[in-house]
Amino acid sequence: MTGTTDKTGTSSGTDRSFLFVLGSSRPEGNTEILARTAAAQLPAGVPQRWVDLSRLPLPDFQDGRHETEGWPAGENEEELRQATLAATDIVIASPLYWYTLSAHTKRYLDYWSGWLAVPGLDFKERMAGRTLWGVTVMAHSEEVVAGGLEITLSHTAAYLRMRFGGLLLGNGSRPGQVRDDERALIRAKTFFSREAPLALFPYEEEAGAR
Ligand SMILES: Cc1cc2nc3c(=O)[nH]c(=O)nc-3n(C[C@H](O)[C@H](O)[C@H](O)COP(=O)(O)O)c2cc1C
Repeated sequence: MTGTTDKTGTSSGTDRSFLFVLGSSRPEGNTEILARTAAAQLPAGVPQRWVDLSRLPLPDFQDGRHETEGWPAGENEEELRQATLAATDIVIASPLYWYTLSAHTKRYLDYWSGWLAVPGLDFKERMAGRTLWGVTVMAHSEEVVAGGLEITLSHTAAYLRMRFGGLLLGNGSRPGQVRDDERALIRAKTFFSREAPLALFPYEEEAGAR
């Protein structure tokens, strides 16, 4: 893997590269605004790539993992796969839809299951040690209702033996409204400098505490 995370998992290393995966179904939405506010604090030498899943649409995922014939990857799938494998840090920027990820984002993660099964790709081994981050904006003001989305991302990171940097949350409904959420904008300033520990499933944490 090119560029591993440093010991603490913070974004101070020079060998980091960030992939921002935008999963809203409208352009220039609140989630993108919040993600860009956080990204603006990354050191200038850290490469950032932004992909908008509504501009690189993926067909519904078809589970061919246990079929003998492989399936041909479409152009957009191939681009996303390469972008994913090229990044040390993957930022899932999804609005909160029905208390979880948007369909665009969920479909992108479903493709990770396909990539896990591609012979010789070694997707799981290559993703291990990289860092997953989440950014979301939601209409509800009680942030606790985004717990399902956070758990989805944390468990995904744990499954792949990735680090998890946590979820940056903002509030807003109309486009641009997150700019009024002062608390979210303040949190965005330091989001990527926080520690990103290796993700663990709760039962692994419990076993480790014993
Ligand atoms: C399909 C859909 C589902 C939504 N579900 C929720 C929800 O479960 N909880 C919530 O607080 N807001 C929900 N919202 C509101 C969005 O999270 C909110 O408008 C957010 O600002 C959208 O982010 P965006 O501008 O990046 O697209 C939903 C909006 C849509 C369109």
